Amino acid sequence: MTEQGLPATGREWHLAARPQGWPDPADFALVEAPVRQPGPGEITVRNAYLSVDPYMRGRMNDVPSYVPPFALGAAMDGGAVGHVVASNVEGFRVGDAVLHGLGWREYATLDAAHAVKVDPELAPLSAYLGVLGMPGLTAYAGLLEVASFRAGDTVFVSGAAGAVGSLVGQIARLKGAKRVIGSAGSAEKVATLVDDYGFDAAFNYKDGAVAELLAPLAPDGIDVYFDNVGGEHLEAAIGALRVHGRATLCGAIAQYNDVDAPAGPRNLALAIGKRLRLQGMLVGDHSALRGQFLEEVGGWLRDGSLRYDETVVEGVENTAEAFIGMLRGANIGKMVVQI
Ligand SMILES: NC(=O)c1ccc[n+]([C@@H]2O[C@H](COP(=O)([O-])OP(=O)(O)OC[C@H]3O[C@@H](n4cnc5c(N)ncnc54)[C@H](OP(=O)(O)O)[C@@H]3O)[C@@H](O)[C@H]2O)c1
Repeated sequence: MTEQGLPATGREWHLAARPQGWPDPADFALVEAPVRQPGPGEITVRNAYLSVDPYMRGRMNDVPSYVPPFALGAAMDGGAVGHVVASNVEGFRVGDAVLHGLGWREYATLDAAHAVKVDPELAPLSAYLGVLGMPGLTAYAGLLEVASFRAGDTVFVSGAAGAVGSLVGQIARLKGAKRVIGSAGSAEKVATLVDDYGFDAAFNYKDGAVAELLAPLAPDGIDVYFDNVGGEHLEAAIGALRVHGRATLCGAIAQYNDVDAPAGPRNLALAIGKRLRLQGMLVGDHSALRGQFLEEVGGWLRDGSLRYDETVVEGVENTAEAFIGMLRGANIGKMVVQI
């Protein structure tokens, strides 16, 4: 075994209570826990960046889903990147940078089969949680594979200043969209979409009814809707979709903290006459696309044609605040915690 000398304890986040509606900092507890030496086949990682993602809100509810709920009083998990500090397995050395699933903590001891090495020369480590990671693949697969994007399409994406949405709009642009329209929750984000990411038009959904804000920006309708938000956004997009339009149902963040039954879309029956294809997606189904995704998106990063932003919160003790901030829209691009 090789090691750098492990500390006796490290800090990890526990779910202290299941949030009712919007999560509160008191629903989370930062706990000092022993750092376990790696057993056979295992490595210990000092995490450098933790990911906070919208799907984690669903895991805080005690309901069956495609990922199991977080257990109360136990360490939470999620995407993280860091450096190996102890290894008990061939092929992983102290100092290697790895991506793995035991985030929300400073130190993680895990089966090396559940970690992948990442190249810090190719991109900053945090990029493997965003543009070159799960959100990046979600954008790439969701637009190109699920929505069957074609050059000449007019594309509307909601949550457009976030980790997934900011890439959907730019990939559509790079792949020859006729027009790219985005929505986001502040004037600053709207300016970023147009000025930095090359969207043709964008609006702040807090300025009025989504359908009324979208209509003048998409006078000929839209061919593709990439839905990160659900509810009123999806209803407006169904109204704007042209015949044979396609929608990727990627997320419904407007409803994640709702305690009452969700609003709309009330016009889902329009999908019939318009012969729409509305397709849900889970990024995990698209891992076969990962090689192509890394090659193409990595190339766009190298030649500067794709931009990405990160909102970096400092300190493991601020992870819960970062998560809640992300739900409220405090991020442009991917929200990560640097520890
Ligand atoms: N299906 C999959 O496999 C998959 C994989 C990854 C992500 N997703 C989904 O994709 C979506 C985006 O994820 P992400 O990681 O890129 O997060 P993100 O967009 O970086 O962060 C979440 C953003 O949601 C926006 N938001 C919050 N409440 C809203 C509301 N009521 N109406 C409209 N926007 C609201 C906020 O921005 P504003 O300031 O603009 O409000 C916030 O910044 C989420 O729905 C997520 O669940 C799905």
